[in-house]
Amino acid sequence: MDVIRIRGGKQLQGKIRVSGAKNAALPILCATLLSDGESILRNVPALKDIETTGELLRVLGRNVMVDPPLVRVAGGPEANPEAPYELVKQMRASVLVLGPLVARYGRAKVSLPGGCQIGSRPVDQHLKGLEALGATIRLSNGYIHAECKRLRGAEVVFDMPTVTGTENIMMAAALAKGRTTLVNCAREPEVEELGRVLNKMGARVDGAGTDVIHIEGRDELDPFDHAIISDRIETGTYMVAAAAAGGDVLLENAPLEDLEAVVSKLRATGVEVGREGDCVRIRRDPDRPLRPVDVMTAPHPGFPTDMQAQFMVLMCLARGTSRIVETIFENRFMHVPELRRMGAEIDTDGHTAHVHGGRPLSGAKVMATDLRASASLVIAGLLATEGETEVLRVYHLDRGYEYMERKLAQLGADTVRIKGQPG
Ligand code: EPU
Repeated sequence: MDVIRIRGGKQLQGKIRVSGAKNAALPILCATLLSDGESILRNVPALKDIETTGELLRVLGRNVMVDPPLVRVAGGPEANPEAPYELVKQMRASVLVLGPLVARYGRAKVSLPGGCQIGSRPVDQHLKGLEALGATIRLSNGYIHAECKRLRGAEVVFDMPTVTGTENIMMAAALAKGRTTLVNCAREPEVEELGRVLNKMGARVDGAGTDVIHIEGRDELDPFDHAIISDRIETGTYMVAAAAAGGDVLLENAPLEDLEAVVSKLRATGVEVGREGDCVRIRRDPDRPLRPVDVMTAPHPGFPTDMQAQFMVLMCLARGTSRIVETIFENRFMHVPELRRMGAEIDTDGHTAHVHGGRPLSGAKVMATDLRASASLVIAGLLATEGETEVLRVYHLDRGYEYMERKLAQLGADTVRIKGQPG
């Protein structure tokens, strides 16, 4: 297993380009199932999750060419609408094929995703939405079996905003007969992006990116050619990395408008964030202490849960105590024990963490537990002023960050990947 070694204490300077958004690309890849012919996706990041989705689409009967930033998916009316456990267990987002498969092929058998490190992550809202559109759902032997000759438009009120749940039902509704109204939808930019693609395919989606979405279904949809939006979480991660290490960094193609909650917290702590053309500039003088700020995660446009771990590392630098509350996932403080091993002083009580900042971090061997936790440990390594950090199990990082160690090295960090170490 690969390890990332970081020798900290270096300021970051220079410019890097933000990659395409993983969480926008995944549902859009699944949307290719809704039509015949060849769809083309551009600006797709080179990530493990993209490869896994490509593999899944192949198993379902598609011809897939993954050559990031380009992906081509082609297929016809025949399919094998079964998503096996072996693939779904690698990536929970595989459940995003459920809606398209049942809408297009009248039936789907998709392994029920289990929990993961960050929480139990049920899919009841996905199933409830499909049932409202007329599908019969049966769970047996760890699989979801869904069937319906032709889905029909309906009203679905989600119990909570769910990102992939909203996306799954949007895709199903795009081939349903009649009009669907989805209420209490997730408002994430990735949902809005899927709406744009479904519209390119010929569906009439209105309101994606707000909490009420209307979809006029069609009998058939067309293939599409689409360039994926930039990754807001990758952007936020590098903003925090630059703020933590200090220096002056430009992020090209950064979707600043999708990151307001993060930017406002960065400014509140004393980091300079400004727009320059299509770049975002982040500046921090490492000699000026940061102020502690409190953060509570919330669905978009609130502070993203996917930025919580990284921001917690930044708060380790602030003089004083900051309070971080995680409201989306029940087990998303797995980075805390690892950060403590590096010298951080953090107490947790249920969903709340108190970070007592201002103490120097020192390098250590630490274990990545999930994708965003891995990124937080890399950032912690950047600001450790003494010793070197080795982040183990970086396969988590490779699921969602394109060449992270190389991008950081491009900014002057001392970060290298050591291939094939015992993990
Ligand atoms: N929930 C339910 N029932 C459902 C669906 C969700 O109870 O049927 C709950 C979840 O347990 C959670 C909350 O609703 O408490 C929100 O979860 P959501 O469904 O929005 O999460 P998701 O769609 O599974 C996506 C991202 C995650 C990101 C979350 C929250 C993708 C592929 N994944 O997951 O991204 O953390 O939204 O913003 O879009 C990551 O990239 O590292 C990552 C984990």
